[in-house]
Amino acid sequence: MNPTIVHISDLHFQTYPQNFQECKSKRILGMGNLFFRRAKQYPLQRAKLLVEQIQQMKWDHLVISGDLTQLSLEREFSLARETLEPLIKDPERVTIIPGNHDRYIKESGGKDYYKQYFGEFFGDKEIHVRKLNSDWVIAGWDSAHPNDWLTASGTVRRSTIQATENLLSSFPEKTRFIIVNHYPLTFPEGWEVDHFHELYNLVPVRNWILRQPNIRLYLHGHIHRNWQHRLSRDSAPELLLLNSASSTSILYPGQKSSFHQIELAGDKVKVSPILLK
Ligand SMILES: [Fe+2]
Repeated sequence: MNPTIVHISDLHFQTYPQNFQECKSKRILGMGNLFFRRAKQYPLQRAKLLVEQIQQMKWDHLVISGDLTQLSLEREFSLARETLEPLIKDPERVTIIPGNHDRYIKESGGKDYYKQYFGEFFGDKEIHVRKLNSDWVIAGWDSAHPNDWLTASGTVRRSTIQATENLLSSFPEKTRFIIVNHYPLTFPEGWEVDHFHELYNLVPVRNWILRQPNIRLYLHGHIHRNWQHRLSRDSAPELLLLNSASSTSILYPGQKSSFHQIELAGDKVKVSPILLK
């Protein structure tokens, strides 16, 4: 079987806080952002259209690489869950990891709505693992954590790298791996990287991945652009990095795709950019 993946990201389901308790700290800033920009950018209707479009496509596995919500409100998570339901009936066919907007603030009592509403699509281990066939395995990472007011950064924990190393060594040498993580490792040429918006340990993580020749694909979101980047390795196949954000947003002028369909055939990876109509 040659598996086909649909990769979407940064769906940003949104509602306003319903009570004073939900209006705390960083959310006030987020509400301003939502009111002025995001609400217009992410009408719920686009998310429903995305679900319909994906239902009509051929795929074996769905990957959502974080930022299901805008302010990590419980109502946003329940709206996301309800809208995505037709696609996520079988958790074996679905990988969903959190983004920084899904851990927007430190909730009282250590509450984690991402885990409550979507935890079954990650599992309760350090990393999420799904074997697609005898050639390809997915490893999902959780690098999102609350930050101060003006920071959107994440961190790939040492324990995540360790668990991934253990995973790589537990499979036959010919197995290829796909890492799913919210944050990018590369940027378009001339892009001004904002260090308060990216992985704190971007460089060591990128270098570590490049040293693992069996990691062939890196699926992410976070920056609301679609792109396909390639990083070459000295004596191993290249690493392909795909950004599928933001799959639900209103199209900006000249935008050519909203997400990606990825076909895996043996060693070959065929990527088709798809536009949400
Ligand atoms: Fe993000």
